[in-house]
Amino acid sequence: AMPVITVDGPSGSGKGTVCRLLAEKLNWEVLDSGAIYRVLALAAIHHHIELDNEEALVPLAANLDVQFPIDHETKSCKVILEGEDVSLTIRNEEVGAAASKVAALPRVREALLRRQRAFRTEAGLIADGRDMGTVVFPSAEVKIYLTASAEERAQRRFDELNGRGLDVTLSGLLADIQARDERDMNRKVAPLIPADDAIVIDTTILNAEEVFNEVQKILEQ
Ligand code: CDP
Repeated sequence: AMPVITVDGPSGSGKGTVCRLLAEKLNWEVLDSGAIYRVLALAAIHHHIELDNEEALVPLAANLDVQFPIDHETKSCKVILEGEDVSLTIRNEEVGAAASKVAALPRVREALLRRQRAFRTEAGLIADGRDMGTVVFPSAEVKIYLTASAEERAQRRFDELNGRGLDVTLSGLLADIQARDERDMNRKVAPLIPADDAIVIDTTILNAEEVFNEVQKILEQ
């Protein structure tokens, strides 16, 4: 079976950066499962489907027309929804909040399971998300769980978005993160929690390089 490393944790815990660095080092692919939930949320908004309408969201999820072609210039994946490049649109806070609403619906998660497990790769897979180690890839070789204080995670989001010239406030981002944590941790299915066999790294006082070094130590064991 193809080897899998899972990297789970809350918003802003640094999963994306670690996954990108790991993928480069190992020459494996990354499954960005959050992007799938974000794309589904955006599709729901486009099709005027309420974010709690499970009946309508399940077929939308099952038939979601999404592609993740590799952009050779940036070496990252583009996100194409129904033929339209939504790589940037899906990253805004509104879509993130909507994603965490559709992600709370059990049958929606079920409908996306196969797509995540079938994620194409020839070598190995680094799976980034909330339930990669607990639900989607329970037999993964290595499971990492990244966490950090909500304040630190809000600060990181602020630096990132503010740096891109977006009009955001630290207190607004902290409130967004807390609302998303609350939904992700308290939902009935696949709540955000470390797998029993996950190694937990608190990244509050670590920079990206230090986190990556910790992960590399784990892989060497
Ligand atoms: O980048 P960020 O951590 O802010 O969010 P994301 O990883 O793109 O995920 C967006 C939302 O999708 C999360 O708040 C979760 O509610 C949901 N999600 C999930 O339920 N399960 C996953 N495996 C990945 C994301």
